[in-house]
Amino acid sequence: MGSHFWQGDKPLKQAHKGIPEGCYEEEQGLKGFYGPVSHLVKPEPSTRWVNIEGPLKPHMFDLVKLGSDSKKNKQSDKIKLLYNSDVSISTWKNLKQTSTAIRNADASTLYFCHKGKGVVFTEYGVLSFEKGQYLVMPKCLTHFFSAEVSFELLVVENHTSHFMEPDRGIAGRNALYDAQTLQRPNLEKQRALLKKLDLNITQIEVQHNSEKTVFTYEASVFDTISWKGDLYPFTLGMDDIMPIMSHRSHLPPSAHTTFVAKNFVICSFLPRPLEEDKDALKVPFYHQNIDYDEVLFYHDGDFFSRDNLHAGMMSFHPAGFPHGPHPKAVKGVGNKTHTNEYAVMIDARWPLKMTEYAKQVELADYWQSWKS
Ligand SMILES: [Fe+2]
Repeated sequence: MGSHFWQGDKPLKQAHKGIPEGCYEEEQGLKGFYGPVSHLVKPEPSTRWVNIEGPLKPHMFDLVKLGSDSKKNKQSDKIKLLYNSDVSISTWKNLKQTSTAIRNADASTLYFCHKGKGVVFTEYGVLSFEKGQYLVMPKCLTHFFSAEVSFELLVVENHTSHFMEPDRGIAGRNALYDAQTLQRPNLEKQRALLKKLDLNITQIEVQHNSEKTVFTYEASVFDTISWKGDLYPFTLGMDDIMPIMSHRSHLPPSAHTTFVAKNFVICSFLPRPLEEDKDALKVPFYHQNIDYDEVLFYHDGDFFSRDNLHAGMMSFHPAGFPHGPHPKAVKGVGNKTHTNEYAVMIDARWPLKMTEYAKQVELADYWQSWKS
């Protein structure tokens, strides 16, 4: 790669600021938002395509329309939507209580609670979770979900590594979220709750090499007397994440990284003030995130960069074309001073495939939605 270079009518200084009136900036970058990068100024956004022929296009899924048989309450009701060899993304709806304990030997799992609340019993103690919280369940840790009313999870399975905290760099180790805000399992509370609910869980369904095997015991599998160590499940609430922003210039999505894994990252987009500088871009910049396929799950709030969105939708923008805000969002930013969106992004290094379930609830005309 060469050093920085520019061409055109006048030098461009700071990315995402001072974009000539009526023009659009497009970022083209390698390695997520960390690699070599250029910014191009164009009279129209590159999302102005009038036709797309071939398999590559932007996708939007309305997961609210996905069915699930709540009466049977089978653990297999988890519906896989997108996947590659590193990561699988599923939705798990109308879940009230798993029929056995679960142990996933194929993946570390990140659950994100989209609706409802509940508890998860583990060999390390019980954890409570509710809407807007992440639950990190390391590979092979036995767990059992229970709730009074049904809840809904977005499930991200990590097949080739484990979920780690992001490097906070110059922002310091307490930026984004403080380790002290992670909720740890409670063994004492678990004993009392299992007794109160009269739960005696004696079976574990283990997923290994994509096959299910059930281990049965005579007595409860949650019988830990004590434990120590730095491997355990935990929860992190979106409300305990302190978004990083600059009042002068739009920061890239990577500033909102919540967890990192081998070949994919999880980011959380949360309510925050918009940039104050008059010449600062206030909507996400148009970009080709050249090395990554991008998935965005819309959890709650007013979705800032797109029109006609509701909670429970999921967009999938593979690499290979630029994407960015919808024209109405660019015009509509007006005098807005804050965003009020809650969304989860999964950026995958290698191409993701769609399942038939995802295709069933795809919005057919989404690729045309950037037309002004
Ligand atoms: Fe993106």
